[in-house]
Amino acid sequence: MKILVTGGAGYIGSHTVLLLLENGYEVVVVDNLSNSSYESLKRVMEITGKTVDFYECDINDYDKLDEIFSIHDINSVIHFAGLKAVGESVSIPLKYYENNLTGTFTLLEVMIKHNVKKIVFSSSATVYGDPHKVPITEDMPNSATNPYGRTKLFLEQILSDVYVSDKEFSVSLLRYFNPIGAHESGRIGENPKGIPNNLMPYITQVASGKLQQLSVFGNDYNTHDGTGVRDYIHVMDLSMGHLKAIEYIQDKTGVFVHNLGTGTGYSVLDLVKAFEEANGIKVPYQIVARRPGDIAACYADPGKAKAELGWQAEKNIVDMCRDAWNWQKQNPNGYEA
Ligand SMILES: NC(=O)c1ccc[n+]([C@@H]2O[C@H](COP(=O)([O-])OP(=O)(O)OC[C@H]3O[C@@H](n4cnc5c(N)ncnc54)[C@H](O)[C@@H]3O)[C@@H](O)[C@H]2O)c1
Repeated sequence: MKILVTGGAGYIGSHTVLLLLENGYEVVVVDNLSNSSYESLKRVMEITGKTVDFYECDINDYDKLDEIFSIHDINSVIHFAGLKAVGESVSIPLKYYENNLTGTFTLLEVMIKHNVKKIVFSSSATVYGDPHKVPITEDMPNSATNPYGRTKLFLEQILSDVYVSDKEFSVSLLRYFNPIGAHESGRIGENPKGIPNNLMPYITQVASGKLQQLSVFGNDYNTHDGTGVRDYIHVMDLSMGHLKAIEYIQDKTGVFVHNLGTGTGYSVLDLVKAFEEANGIKVPYQIVARRPGDIAACYADPGKAKAELGWQAEKNIVDMCRDAWNWQKQNPNGYEA
């Protein structure tokens, strides 16, 4: 079965492509490499001994996508491609709307033309806004506080409208919590450009001496130690969730929403401590002011994914910390030589 993966050279995409190949799927990747490198896919091919059909292509390019769908007999699409930096989305909202929204419209038009009606979409826990309770279940209200979050919210609604207009569609909306870690080989991992926005790559770059110290944004939240609590999930577990979602939508039509998280919340300081213990390295940090828009606590109730997809996270926080560090140690400059 052939799966087209948009954004497949990126962090979550490359790990998912690896698992797809290992599980016997044929994979076509479309990525404009705006936030990634082809090196990730070269390494995926090395690890698996299998081949990926790669196209350097923007999902806004109708003609090129049309050609790719004509060449390949695509069964389903996993749609990762998108810009994802919350802060940047506030500065350049139109770029985010153009890339994430119109890019998806183009993809959907081409899918419809070629009668491909199964799609797994990368949504995010950000669609829960500031949740009124934790753990978060899929039926809780949605809201967004920044343009990035709005692109996820709008696209969930747009994909649902597409299903309403054509009941042959099968749409899986996966709401990710906080993916961290890397493939156990240390050959592929998260490769942020510039100063990382997310906590784990920041920690690994402090541990390696690339950055001086970690800034912890606020220690006066209503949590057990005052720092923000999140649901960290190993990227390999998250990737496996996509394979389960692909299987799930094969014989159904409709719109299916699932949280992909572990169900356990760790604070910033918990994660720092876990990293230090797992790897025997100190991570110096300082407490600074809260970051606007951050919330106190966000973690999933992953029960629906377990019941319906037969999926649950298998790896623990020690695995996440060890694998993140293994990747960073082996690749101090990411995919750059
Ligand atoms: N990493 C997270 O914490 C997180 C959390 C929730 C949701 N998500 C979502 O998951 C998806 C994958 O995230 P990631 O962390 O792997 O990010 P990433 O930036 O590593 O991967 C996204 C990929 O999409 C590509 N891309 C972007 N715009 C494109 C376009 N117009 N045409 C073709 N390719 C394009 C990029 O080059 C990159 O390879 C994104 O949609 C993101 O919003 C990520």
